[in-house]
Amino acid sequence: MSAALDTYCVMGDPIAHSRSPWIHARFAELTGERLSYEARRVPLADFADALRRFALEGGRGCNITVPLKREAARLSHTRSERVAQAGAANTLVLQGGRIHADNTDGLGLVADIEQGAGVPLAGRDVLLIGAGGAAAGVLGPLLARAPRRIAVCNRTAARAEELVARHLGSAKLSKTELLALDQQALDADFDLIINATSSSLSGGPVPVPARVLRPGALAYDMMYGPPAQGFLDWAGAHGAVSRDGLGMLVEQAAQSFLLWRGVRPPSTQVLSELRALLAA
Ligand code: ATR
Repeated sequence: MSAALDTYCVMGDPIAHSRSPWIHARFAELTGERLSYEARRVPLADFADALRRFALEGGRGCNITVPLKREAARLSHTRSERVAQAGAANTLVLQGGRIHADNTDGLGLVADIEQGAGVPLAGRDVLLIGAGGAAAGVLGPLLARAPRRIAVCNRTAARAEELVARHLGSAKLSKTELLALDQQALDADFDLIINATSSSLSGGPVPVPARVLRPGALAYDMMYGPPAQGFLDWAGAHGAVSRDGLGMLVEQAAQSFLLWRGVRPPSTQVLSELRALLAA
């Protein structure tokens, strides 16, 4: 008789669209790891119960997505430095009745920019648009790569200022100039522009002027599929190289898989397969 499979899941609401079960099933196949991974729709009000139930069933780990990331950080017994800084978690490790929270979103973004797009962050000028959960999850790992400058620009200026204030210690360590820039007074240009807003979901336009794009700049949207298209078209029309967040999705999953299994999956191969699948 074979031993029961180690079980993992992704929790969020909505969850039907999630590609995580497919990605982790492919990682498991390609690395020979024996595990199961499913999607569970969990509204915020049910999250604590759902987590308890999953732990009692013997669950080994979860990915956490919208709208549960902040609560995941709060409910956990221990947190990585990345979670403490982001105030949000996307990866939980369940062991011996205890929950450890980590956040692999920023590592996924950095890996996709540096390896996927081939743009090393060290010494670059970066514009991070947005100051919500998505931006907060990636600022620490971006700073750790020692860019020359990161400007954070947000519709609500006070949120950008608060996010910057929370990261000044990390900026000092990496010798990065970190500042909040007013959306109206944005007249500098950048090597890398990262869209971490949800503006496109409400049909909003790209929230910055095209002059922020230095010639040949990389314009990165953390979303993928139809919500990213407007930003990618805008970047292309103004001479920038554009990239959606599908690689970030696969890379953050790879980092979670590594945390859970101690094995690094072949993320480049899985990203090409997923692109082909979505294009079909
Ligand atoms: P998420 O977890 O996706 O980051 P969030 O915490 O609600 O979600 O943050 C959404 C981000 O998108 C915020 O930076 C928000 O700006 P505000 O802080 O001013 O709300 C930004 N955003 C959403 N809709 C926008 C729009 N139409 N124009 C510009 N920015 C927008």
